[in-house]
Amino acid sequence: MQFSPLQSRLAASLIASCLLIALYFTLFTPHFALAAEVPGDSPIVLDDADFSPASQPRGSLNPVYEPEFSAFDRSILGRAPAGVSALTNNEATSMNVVAGSTERFVFTVDSIPARAMMERTLELRGEHNANQLTNRDNEPREAGPDPDTNDADGLVKRQASRTVYISANTCEQPRPLVASNTTTTEPPQLTLYVSKTDLNQSPGPLADTDSQFEVEFTEGAVMFNLTVSGDVYIGVHAPNATGFTTDWNFKVAASTDAYFYTYNEKDDADLIWVDSDAQGALLITHNLTESYDPVVEQKIMSSQPYVMFAQNSKDTSISGLKYSYCGLQINSQIAATKNGQFASMVSTGMTKRGQGNLPKQQFFFSGLNSSADYLGILARDGSSTVSGNGLAGAGGHVFKATQFSTKSDHGNCGIVFNLTFCDQIAYSVPSNPNFGNSTKLAQFYDDYAREMYENFDKSLQQVACEAPSNQRYSLARNCSQCAAAYKDWLCLVTIPRCEDFDNPAPYLHPRAMNQKFPNGEALDDAAIAQVKLNYKAAYNTSRNPRIDETIVPGPYKEVLPCEDLCYNIVQSCPSSLGFSCPVPGQVGFSSSYGRRQGDELSCNYPGSAHFSSSAVRLVAAWAVPATVTLFVFLLL
Ligand SMILES: *[C@@H]1O[C@H](CO)[C@@H](O)[C@H](O)[C@H]1NC(C)=O
Ligand SMILES: *[C@@H]1O[C@H](CO)[C@@H](O)[C@H](O)[C@H]1NC(C)=O
Ligand SMILES: *[C@@H]1O[C@H](CO)[C@@H](O)[C@H](O)[C@H]1NC(C)=O
Ligand SMILES: *[C@@H]1O[C@H](CO)[C@@H](O)[C@H](O)[C@H]1NC(C)=O
Ligand SMILES: *[C@@H]1O[C@H](CO)[C@@H](O)[C@H](O)[C@H]1NC(C)=O
Ligand SMILES: *[C@@H]1O[C@H](CO)[C@@H](O)[C@H](O)[C@H]1NC(C)=O
Ligand SMILES: *[C@@H]1O[C@H](CO)[C@@H](O)[C@H](O)[C@H]1NC(C)=O
Ligand SMILES: *[C@@H]1O[C@H](CO)[C@@H](O)[C@H](O)[C@H]1NC(C)=O
Ligand SMILES: *[C@@H]1O[C@H](CO)[C@@H](O)[C@H](O)[C@H]1NC(C)=O
Repeated sequence: MQFSPLQSRLAASLIASCLLIALYFTLFTPHFALAAEVPGDSPIVLDDADFSPASQPRGSLNPVYEPEFSAFDRSILGRAPAGVSALTNNEATSMNVVAGSTERFVFTVDSIPARAMMERTLELRGEHNANQLTNRDNEPREAGPDPDTNDADGLVKRQASRTVYISANTCEQPRPLVASNTTTTEPPQLTLYVSKTDLNQSPGPLADTDSQFEVEFTEGAVMFNLTVSGDVYIGVHAPNATGFTTDWNFKVAASTDAYFYTYNEKDDADLIWVDSDAQGALLITHNLTESYDPVVEQKIMSSQPYVMFAQNSKDTSISGLKYSYCGLQINSQIAATKNGQFASMVSTGMTKRGQGNLPKQQFFFSGLNSSADYLGILARDGSSTVSGNGLAGAGGHVFKATQFSTKSDHGNCGIVFNLTFCDQIAYSVPSNPNFGNSTKLAQFYDDYAREMYENFDKSLQQVACEAPSNQRYSLARNCSQCAAAYKDWLCLVTIPRCEDFDNPAPYLHPRAMNQKFPNGEALDDAAIAQVKLNYKAAYNTSRNPRIDETIVPGPYKEVLPCEDLCYNIVQSCPSSLGFSCPVPGQVGFSSSYGRRQGDELSCNYPGSAHFSSSAVRLVAAWAVPATVTLFVFLLL
């Protein structure tokens, strides 16, 4: 197609106009866009205008705390009188104190944490940027040479009231001067004095009692909170202690967020004593989560949140320090912590064993003394997750102590756990030091149970498990439930729970009385004569003959399996398998099964333990093999 000259000129001017318009937009469009963004940007622009030349460039502002602390240090250190130490938020200060004297501290609230707290709340909402700018902006003024200047910001901060959490731990306490007779009494506890009025800047036993709070340490620890709008003055006083050396060492920390050191004296012990043998003990925490979410479980299973301390009850080195994390770390006999005392005597790991199959942490102690009582103290090391100081609560948490004891030196009960097939088993079993170590012992019992189970599995496969519901043996139960019930029962029956022969608890069943102890001793005739003669076979043998043939444990007592384990099989399994349970009162019942009695471990069940910790004796129930109706030996 051909253009006339006129058309060509029109086309040329159109093209030129388009180019011009394009050029115009290229050059000036940013102005239009900027105008649209102005409302969002304006606060930052205003902030920029406010920045003095000396203030930090905006790019370097990020939520770190150092500038706050340096500001704090400058203002406080300048003010703290001689002999008074300034406390930093969430940091422990270590100090010695001599009997009859008081160490003093000051904690200034106004220069730090209002901002720290604000930032934290805002960060949660994801809005911290804008507010941080405003906060930072105030900082140079606050850190000025005269902190008492009555400028507007200072006044506002000063009048805001805040909660301050003060906590302290006694790390070292005086020792008795005479080693012998005074050891039963412990040295007196330190006392914390707190004042929030400038009129009493030296709280202590000599100051006006109306102007201060007084709290005595409990087992080497103290927690105290108060609401303040200004400085907090703290005194830690050491009493005169006759008959003891004079030096204490303690750590004190103040915080506006939470207690740095905590302890729990109210709740039941959080540590459960599962079982022990002559040299070892197995302890376990409660469920560490209620969640069956695989992500949550996985996260917990890959952590080891707790540490543990253990102490022979006769050893008084931690008396008066049982709630003090640093006191336990330094003074306890065994500290299952990083760099702790004899930490090699403890192995810890996570397990899902027990009712509910939820994650728990377990501790296994070895190298303990036989027939001894111990205290186990569970603790959370706040600093294990972070670098220690500087974080709220980083001083650690101490739980109430759990008592446990070891078995006699007959040495014929040995703890097994971490079994492959009988994965719920963790307790003492009939054993003999000459048989082999705990790994070999566990293997022996586990293999035996697995062998028994294979026989059962063959029988179960002949039952119409997968049949349509009208042909199944039960509408309520299926074969997997039968198999699970059988496995629970089988593991507990083939792996008897062992107690010392000397243990007098009435629910324990004597076994293998005809044999000699591993050290060659035998029971005297009088002891043997005491057992009921009408059922002697249950007393002179073990529940299962292979134990007597292979392990030869010698006389021991058995915690019988709980009767409900048997009823569960009868209810869950096809009647064609022919299971039945002995009835209480029937001959042989009392040699086969135990019955649950309150909180006591009067019979054995999967995941059983000494749940009520304190003075309660071990509870175990015993089941004997050989009643007639009982199928205990059905599959042998
Ligand atoms: C503690 O001992 C010192 C020196 O022996 C004495 O001056 C002071 O009064 C005593 N304090 C108390 C409370 O007994
Ligand atoms: C120490 O205790 C023993 C008995 O435990 C007693 O015989 C002795 O007299 C006591 N010594 C002192 C100085 O109290
Ligand atoms: C603060 O102390 C009071 C008693 O003085 C106590 O009831 C309260 O539980 C404490 N607060 C915290 C968070 O511990
Ligand atoms: C027991 O098993 C757990 C988990 O597999 C492991 O962490 C722990 O070390 C084992 N304990 C012993 C003594 O084998
Ligand atoms: C763990 O949780 C299960 C299920 O809720 C419960 O039955 C069991 O008693 C708990 N175990 C412990 C040791 O708290
Ligand atoms: C075992 O007993 C001895 C002697 O009584 C004692 O010195 C030692 O500390 C005890 N060891 C443990 C782990 O209890
Ligand atoms: C137990 O004994 C076996 C050899 O019988 C050995 O291989 C194993 O390392 C021992 N285990 C422990 C925990 O000592
Ligand atoms: C058996 O019953 C339980 C509970 O009703 C169910 O969770 C399970 O899947 C059943 N097993 C089979 C093989 O049907
Ligand atoms: C156990 O006692 C019964 C009854 O007295 C006896 O028949 C049996 O041989 C004894 N068994 C052993 C291993 O001593």
